[in-house]
Amino acid sequence: MSSMTCINNSYEKLSIRLKMTLKIDNRCDINNRKILPTSTVGRGKTVSIKSKPSFETWSDQYVSLYLGNSLEFYNVWTPPTVIVSDGAYGILGFEGDTSDHLGLPDWYEQHIKAWSKYALPETTLWFWNSEIGWAAVHPILEKYGWRYQNCNIWNKGKAHIAGNVNTQKIRRFPVVSEVCVQYTFEVKIDGLILKQWLKKEWQRTGLPLKKANEACGVRDAAVRKYLDQGHLWYYPPPEMFILLQEYANKFGAPEGRPYFSLDGKSPCSKKKWSKMRAKFKCPHGFTNIWDRNPTNGKERIKSPNGKAAHLNQKPLDLMELIIESSSSVGDVIWEPFGGLFSASLAATQIKRHAFAAEIDSTYFQLGVERFTTNFQGQKLF
Ligand SMILES: C[S@@+](CC[C@H](N)C(=O)[O-])C[C@H]1O[C@@H](n2cnc3c(N)ncnc32)[C@H](O)[C@@H]1O
Repeated sequence: MSSMTCINNSYEKLSIRLKMTLKIDNRCDINNRKILPTSTVGRGKTVSIKSKPSFETWSDQYVSLYLGNSLEFYNVWTPPTVIVSDGAYGILGFEGDTSDHLGLPDWYEQHIKAWSKYALPETTLWFWNSEIGWAAVHPILEKYGWRYQNCNIWNKGKAHIAGNVNTQKIRRFPVVSEVCVQYTFEVKIDGLILKQWLKKEWQRTGLPLKKANEACGVRDAAVRKYLDQGHLWYYPPPEMFILLQEYANKFGAPEGRPYFSLDGKSPCSKKKWSKMRAKFKCPHGFTNIWDRNPTNGKERIKSPNGKAAHLNQKPLDLMELIIESSSSVGDVIWEPFGGLFSASLAATQIKRHAFAAEIDSTYFQLGVERFTTNFQGQKLF
C-alpha cells in the first residue's frame, strides 16, 4: 500500500469518526436547515411545593417509590413482568418534555435500552403516547428488541374538549385520543429467536421433521405450527413443548443431548418454558378501543387552587386493565415516569409489586400521598 493511500485511509477514518461525534449537533432537515434541539421548558405547573420531601424513597409491602431520574434506579429494581411507560409526549406537558415529537426518540433511547437490559422473556411493555409520538419512537423500540403487538386507543370522548376547540383555527379534527401500545420482548436463546431455536434443536436430533408430529400425537400440526419459520409459527404451549422435548431427548442422537436445554445441562422444564413468552389474558368484552372519559371528579388530584395537579394523570381503571391482563398476582411492575404514580397505585390494588420513579419533587410528594391516608411526611400545603 502506498503512503498516500495510507494517509487517505486514516483521513477518511478520522473524518467518519468526527462525523459520528458531531452527528447529534449537525442534523439537518430535507431543506438542509439545521435541526435545533427541541425546547424542554414545561408549560408551567398548577402547583409547586417549595419544600423538599424529608425522604427520597417511600415503600410499603407492595410499592417502592423513588424521587429522581429512573435511569439511576433500573439496576436496583427487581426485573419487571410489566413496564408501563407514560413519559414525554412532545407537548411540553411537564418540565423536561420536548416541544414536538422530533425530540422523542432521543428522549426515550437510554430508557428503552435499559428496559431491554433488564427485561425478562415474559415482559410486556405498555407505551402510552400520542399517535405521532408513538410513531416517532417505534423504530427505537424495534431497535432494542421490543416487538409490536397491538395499538390500543384511549377515546376520551367529547368531554375532553367540551366545546373549547375552534376547529377553524386548528384546521383539523379535534384530538380526543391517546394510544397505549402493547410490546413484548423478543426472546433469544443462543442468539436465535424462539422459532429458529426450536427448529435448530429439532434438526440437531437428526430426526426427520415429521417425527415432531408423532412426538406431539398430532397428524401434522407440530411441523406446521411449532417448527414453521414464517408467519404461521405458533409458540408451542408448555404441554406440547414437553412432548417435543421428551421425544427429542429419548430418540435424538445421543451425542447431541440434552436437546431443548436453556443451560446446556438439562432439558428445559414445562414451568421454565411457560415463562418464555409474555403473559396476556384478555378480559371479556374488551377491544382495542377504550371509551373512557378523562380523569376527573374525586380521582383527579387537585392543587389548592382547584386545578388538576398533573396534566397527564391517567385513569386507574385503564392502568388496572393493562396490568391485570399482562401479569399475575405477585409480579413486578415498573413505572419509570411516575407522575402521580397511577400505574403503581393500580398495581398495588391488584396485589402486584410496583417500582416507580418521579423526577419532580412536587409530583413525587403528591404521588406518595395517594398511597397513605395517614401520611407521615411533611405537610404539603
Ligand atoms: C406523562 S407524566 C406521567 C403521569 C402518570 N402516568 C400519572 O398518571 O400521574 C410523566 C412524568 O414523568 C416524569 N419524568 C420525566 N422524566 C423522568 C425521569 N427520567 N425519571 C423519572 N421521572 C421522570 C415527569 O416529571 C412527569 O411527571
